Amino acid sequence: MTVIKELKNEHEAVLLTIRILDQITTRLKSGQTVEIKHLDQILEFLTIFVDKCHHGKEEKVLFPAMEEAGIPREGGPISTMLYEHEQGRSFVQGLRRGVEGYRVGKEHSVTEIIENAQKYGLLLSSHIDKENNVLYVMAERVLSVDKLTEMENAFIRIEKLEIGPNKHEEFHATLHALKNVYLA
Ligand SMILES: [Fe+2]
Ligand SMILES: [Fe+2]
Repeated sequence: MTVIKELKNEHEAVLLTIRILDQITTRLKSGQTVEIKHLDQILEFLTIFVDKCHHGKEEKVLFPAMEEAGIPREGGPISTMLYEHEQGRSFVQGLRRGVEGYRVGKEHSVTEIIENAQKYGLLLSSHIDKENNVLYVMAERVLSVDKLTEMENAFIRIEKLEIGPNKHEEFHATLHALKNVYLA
């Protein structure tokens, strides 16, 4: 599997998480309760799998490789992607605050969860669309086969460092279980 294909596969997992989160917000909006455990699982997925691992691969490996190949960081798609990663982080922080409040029955915590989940979903859906259809296409055009192979090894190192052995499968299993609860 090429590194770009790997990143695209990870995008599919992010999009699935967004669909699950959408269902969670729908339930919360209609006054239903949601299991805290599910919210914690989603937060862990967004923090570790999406941010540390997927965005880590992009920020530490893909973007620098593209810059090396002549795509400027400033004023181009790379700086936009970096900015959107930052925005995503702040929505996840907001979501975490909402979940912490929800755990102790704090007022307004449901609104905080809903607002941040919606903003995150909108942002990441369009971010992924831009990466799949613009940035990754550019990467495939400018990166050599040798560079792509070198990146494969760097990705393996990030996986090991940020996620650790077996955790990747565990994340996918959790996501699958959540899918059965919310999207069945
Ligand atoms: Fe990204
Ligand atoms: Fe991405």
